Amino acid sequence: MLRNLVLIGLVGLTGNLAALGAEPAPDASRGELLYTKHCVACHTTQVHWRDKKLATDWQSLQAQVRRWQSATGQKWSEPDISEVSRYLNALYYHYPATD
Ligand code: HEC
Repeated sequence: MLRNLVLIGLVGLTGNLAALGAEPAPDASRGELLYTKHCVACHTTQVHWRDKKLATDWQSLQAQVRRWQSATGQKWSEPDISEVSRYLNALYYHYPATD
């Protein structure tokens, strides 16, 4: 039920972003900006809550973000990796962040 609500919310959000030419809201966090710009294109939201997820805690979530920014040719700093991890964690994972 909660999942469906989140899904509907995300679909709504995606629609709004598309309507705005994929520009994130001006008050979006840096993590959200980076993720929206570089990552969201080939992620369905499902990537982040599938059963076989690779990000199983805060550490592995950061490791996946690090892996993906590198795989997509970005050169993010550690603070940027951390910001995007935080953004995804707040949105999907809710792991206790240990740093
Ligand atoms: C070329 C398409 C593509 C792009 C661009 C991309 N991803 Fe992914 N991402 C995937 C696919 C496919 C998976 C799931 C399979 C896998 O992990 O190998 C995934 C998985 C992930 C996961 C792990 C999800 C989980 O819980 O298992 C994270 C975190 C992630 N991506 C973050 C990012 C970030 C951050 C960026 C931007 C720097 C990014 N991705 C860009 C395709 C992409």
